[in-house]
Amino acid sequence: MRKLLVTGGAGFIGSNFVHHVISHSDDHVTVLDKLTYAGNRASLEGLPEDRLTFVQGDIADAALVDELFSAADAVVHFAAESHNDNSLHDPRPFLDTNIIGTYTLLEAARRHDTRLHHISTDEVYGDLELDDPARFTETTPYNPSSPYSSTKAGSDLLVRAWVRSFGVRATISNCSNNYGPYQHVEKFIPRQITNVIRGVRPRLYGKGENVRDWIHADDHSSAVLTILDKGALGETYLIGADGEKSNKEVVELILTTMGVSADAYDHVTDRAGHDLRYAIDSTRLRDELGWRPAYADFEAGIAATIDWYRANEDWWAPSKDATEAFYATKGQ
Ligand code: NAD
Ligand code: TYD
Repeated sequence: MRKLLVTGGAGFIGSNFVHHVISHSDDHVTVLDKLTYAGNRASLEGLPEDRLTFVQGDIADAALVDELFSAADAVVHFAAESHNDNSLHDPRPFLDTNIIGTYTLLEAARRHDTRLHHISTDEVYGDLELDDPARFTETTPYNPSSPYSSTKAGSDLLVRAWVRSFGVRATISNCSNNYGPYQHVEKFIPRQITNVIRGVRPRLYGKGENVRDWIHADDHSSAVLTILDKGALGETYLIGADGEKSNKEVVELILTTMGVSADAYDHVTDRAGHDLRYAIDSTRLRDELGWRPAYADFEAGIAATIDWYRANEDWWAPSKDATEAFYATKGQ
């Protein structure tokens, strides 16, 4: 039985990962999470108590991190400030958590010689033109656009430096946009689903032509577990499931799946510096480590996600009004 430390395990992807690990392995999981506005203890409800320990705390707290690393066989690092729109409004927490927090974990990994997997995003590569056949690969140059993506890029570079300079046993993955249960209502897909549940028209930034490469959070989890078990130390793997869709296509799918007319949405103020298109080439992960996504059908994945938000209003309703009040101040 491996002892895994999972940072950010009460967030969207972290909590999906904890559920995945507990049902696909006999690992014991300790979650370290600050429970910011984005963390929710309820996302871990129902898991067996003997398999999960929850610690509320900050990844930038060196003493706490040191203590937790001394008891862990491996660490998977999801904790981050994760929302581009928030980073445009107030970048400081992004520097504190994404840069200083990751640095704090790297120093502990170095002291304890702990295996570390660092979770990152394809947004570190900047964006692609809509008509460009190219997709991101492990060798695409870094070119981040926003305070969020630049702090994630900075954290990736810290990991690479700690690998090379200090021999830290780390791997990195850069994944495309995730969807699925337990995602905060500030993000695109849950925001529109919960708007429709409340009888509010979905909001599309600008023309809605921007393209994101969608992957189900459970496929992200299986990829991370694969890299943790089989990945080569010091290496980077891109995670994606060939799910490119324009925002307009996604909103229309949500509306029609929920029984509403496909054009019942509004265009609102565009995001500053809005990245046009992300697209991942995950050949390396598939060829070298044998990973395959399980959620091939985006329409079915969205329908299941809509069902989850319909059935779990108690989980998301407490955050909805404050989130919409924030967007309203920006005309979004
Ligand atoms: P999220 O915002 O839903 O969750 C982040 C979690 O980290 C929350 O539980 C929060 O309480 C916790 N946290 C924040 N600051 C902390 C701190 N200082 N100490 C301890 N815990 C802290 O984010 P998410 O969407 O689940 O993203 C998780 C990771 O995956 C991030 O590193 C993100 O960059 C990466 N990622 C996200 C996506 C996506 O589509 N959401 C895609 C690729 C990569
Ligand atoms: P988001 O979920 O914030 O993820 P990211 O910025 O990491 O890609 O947004 C996904 C896409 O949806 C992005 O192009 C911005 C757009 N968007 C809207 O059109 N309307 C919205 O209300 C939100 C939150 C996002």
